[in-house]
Amino acid sequence: MTDSVKLRRKPLQIRRVTYADLPQVIAVERRSFPTPWSLAMFVLELSKPSGICLAALEDDRICGYLVCSRYDTVWHIMNIAVDEPRRRLGIASVLLERLFERAGRPGAQFTLEVRLSNEPAIALYERFGFQSSGLRRGYYHDNKEDALIMWRTVPERQAAGAMIETAPQGAGA
Ligand code: COA
Repeated sequence: MTDSVKLRRKPLQIRRVTYADLPQVIAVERRSFPTPWSLAMFVLELSKPSGICLAALEDDRICGYLVCSRYDTVWHIMNIAVDEPRRRLGIASVLLERLFERAGRPGAQFTLEVRLSNEPAIALYERFGFQSSGLRRGYYHDNKEDALIMWRTVPERQAAGAMIETAPQGAGA
């Protein structure tokens, strides 16, 4: 399915990532992370039938993406990035909203790891109701930085995509 959103005067299209998108995705990835994912890592995630990988496009060019895997009942946000010139325009927010529309049925759980120093990403996740639940010490190999573990649970009684969430009991590290 293809969604189209009008965002700050530029139309933003959200759709599933295809293998043909990967060169553009990797270009954004390399500009966004000190230790970018390899092509093989993206191919592996795209090959998982239960996963959700979304691309954000402006003028038919990829400006952001999100990779989410499902492990049993838990959704793990593995990767999200927006190209630097297009940040703070709500693009990551739209990607997360679309993910929650697709996967955020009542009771669904989402988790992720984020560098403790990554204040922009932590602010983004907190805005969507993610809550900190612990640390993975030395999780990042390049500088041994700790990862903050965050969880978001869609309440049983609340519709998918809602913004008010609670942390799962006993979830985390
Ligand atoms: N500083 C403070 N808060 C920030 C922020 C920043 N630099 N960037 C995002 N936020 C918070 C704000 O609350 C923001 O709302 P506001 O702009 O109305 O204040 C909210 O998140 C939504 O931001 P949005 O515009 O949807 O995010 P984005 O499209 O700029 O993408 C990232 C956010 C984190 C994906 C982007 O900065 C990025 O690609 N960073 C590099 C890759 C990365 O670190 N990915 C996360 C790995 S865990």
